[in-house]
Amino acid sequence: MRRLQTLEREHKILVRFGAAVSSQTRLEPLLKLLADEVRQLLNAQRCTVFLLDPQTQELRSKLAHGLKALELRLPLGRGIIGAVAKTGRPLLIPKAYRDPRFDPSSDKKSGYRTRNLLAVPLKNREGKILGVFEVLNKKRGTFSREDCGLLQLLAAIASGAIENAKLCEELRDSHLETIYRLAMIAEYRDQEDTALHLRHISQYAAVVAENLGLDPGTVEEIRYASPLHDIGKVAIPDAILLKPGKLTEEEYAEMKKHPAYGARILENAQTTLLQMAHRIALAHHESFDGTGYPKRLKGEEIPWEARIVSVVDVFDALATRRVYKPAWEPQEAFRYIETKAGTQFDPAAVEGFKKGFPEILELLRTDVIARPASC
Ligand code: C2E
Ligand code: SIN
Ligand code: SIN
Ligand code: FE
Ligand code: FE
Repeated sequence: MRRLQTLEREHKILVRFGAAVSSQTRLEPLLKLLADEVRQLLNAQRCTVFLLDPQTQELRSKLAHGLKALELRLPLGRGIIGAVAKTGRPLLIPKAYRDPRFDPSSDKKSGYRTRNLLAVPLKNREGKILGVFEVLNKKRGTFSREDCGLLQLLAAIASGAIENAKLCEELRDSHLETIYRLAMIAEYRDQEDTALHLRHISQYAAVVAENLGLDPGTVEEIRYASPLHDIGKVAIPDAILLKPGKLTEEEYAEMKKHPAYGARILENAQTTLLQMAHRIALAHHESFDGTGYPKRLKGEEIPWEARIVSVVDVFDALATRRVYKPAWEPQEAFRYIETKAGTQFDPAAVEGFKKGFPEILELLRTDVIARPASC
């Protein structure tokens, strides 16, 4: 009877745990979720997730309760954690300091006192070691064999989720890299620091979106879609794009075709991300009061993503050097944006920009090459 109740309880825990972790496709929040859940389920003071770095063969703590910035590193084979990773077998240690395998250097580093611990391997489907799950200091007594069994089950679910999140992240990274490289084609000709400009647009747009309270998924979309806003410049002749001085009326008219060119490149996109990039490319020079180009759209007729990119594009164009103009002081550029709220720019987007400005300024400042001393 007791056994049945335990099974039922475990079953419930696993279903809930599985549902919670399988929906998280980002590694960092996933590890935090895993650590929180496992600590609670096993009544432990602390849970640490170590992941194996295949390059260095080191186990690195990716998340540990109470250790904010500190990263613990253990070579494969060293300490309890290293032994678990090496053998692929769990270890239940009731008295850490009595166990010769225990490596107290982590405690020394963290100022923590490990009494007892339980560590189980994280393995992928092929049985390859991904890392180690460790719980420290059972709140009452020490960890039991049942705890060990439960933690192994949790680790099996967690391994699947970790692998999945890693793959998703890799896919996202390669997606982003492709977009950056594509965007570079268009812009490398007219800016010395193209990569920097693209990174700025991407970061600033995400900051503004965040400060407007958009959900994290949407923030990520605009982060990845915004660098393509000027992709249409690929079709603009060098003589115009690279002209060191002011453009003639004719040249400027040619320049103003870049949103339409960009839209053509991105038209009929299949993914929501590139569909957003299409809307941004086409509408990032529209003006809130209806005086922009190419369509003279007004207010809400302009896609919201384009209203955000418009603000950060002009800010970055002003705050950095262009072939045709020197860099403005960031504060000056900020004031320009402020004064154009309601005319050139969506006042809401400007509000988000103002809220996010300290962060934007920080991003601008930490990119040292953004402020060439010569201008
Ligand atoms: P961009 O360099 O990325 O600039 C984007 C936008 O930032 C501009 O859109 C404009 O709204 C704003 N902006 C940039 N510099 C200034 C400035 O000195 N004063 C003010 N008030 N706003 C500024 P816009 O005007 O539609 O220009 C689109 C693109 O056309 C620019 O992209 C740039 O590539 C090119 N362009 C514009 N003016 C000139 C110029 O005088 N010479 C050259 N060579 N290119 C120009
Ligand atoms: C060990 O692996 O021996 C100690 C690891 C830890 O305290 O986290
Ligand atoms: C530009 O069209 O980018 C230049 C406008 C200005 O210099 O005010
Ligand atoms: Fe543009
Ligand atoms: Fe731009």
